[in-house]
Amino acid sequence: MAARNRLPPWHDQIRLTNGREILIRPVRPDDAEPLRAGFGLLGPEEIRQRFLDRMPELSAEMANRLTRPDPKTEFALVAAEPLPPGEALVGGVARVAVVPGTRDGEFTILVSRYIAGLGAGRQLMRRLVRWAKGKKLERLVGDVLEDNQPMLALADSLGFRRETSDTPGAVRVVLDL
Ligand SMILES: CC(C)(COP(=O)(O)OP(=O)(O)OC[C@H]1O[C@@H](n2cnc3c(N)ncnc32)[C@H](O)[C@@H]1OP(=O)(O)O)[C@@H](O)C(=O)NCCC(=O)NCCS
Repeated sequence: MAARNRLPPWHDQIRLTNGREILIRPVRPDDAEPLRAGFGLLGPEEIRQRFLDRMPELSAEMANRLTRPDPKTEFALVAAEPLPPGEALVGGVARVAVVPGTRDGEFTILVSRYIAGLGAGRQLMRRLVRWAKGKKLERLVGDVLEDNQPMLALADSLGFRRETSDTPGAVRVVLDL
């Protein structure tokens, strides 16, 4: 009966805590340009927390790579306006990539401050965990800067534990799957 409302796999229309509707869906090549445009709206701190480094821009090459994940080893979701890819503004991106030679998946996530604190980060992280479990990975890991209280709190609440990271100034968060 609800067939007409059925969305493709990994597509979910969700309501943020402020009432705004967003679509969580796999990233598409057409998202590259909106992603590059959105990057210009990010603050230096958001960029540092996500990339653990400074970055003046999201190069076309990097945007192309981010929007064309290798389906065997990578999975990337966006939290976007419910409009066709290319038109939709993208407010969040979350990605997991299998670390070569291991059963670990390494995640990264960035939710723009325009929709931060409204539940998108938790929704995206839950789906990364689900994908990693489906891939029969053993662990989901991520490097988080020590001063990144929001991400550390989110990771704690999802059951991640903390380990030492090889990246200076960062903690490794680990979820056994
Ligand atoms: C960390 C981040 C992904 C959280 O996304 P978000 O959409 O704002 O998170 P949510 O609204 O889903 O909140 C989830 C949980 O995160 C924690 N959290 C979010 N914002 C927080 C804040 N300002 N202070 C403390 N904890 C916070 C809370 O535990 C919250 O759970 P609660 O709502 O039940 O209290 C987002 O802030 C972000 O992208 N930051 C910059 C990039 C980054 O740090 N990436 C992580 C390293 S890869």
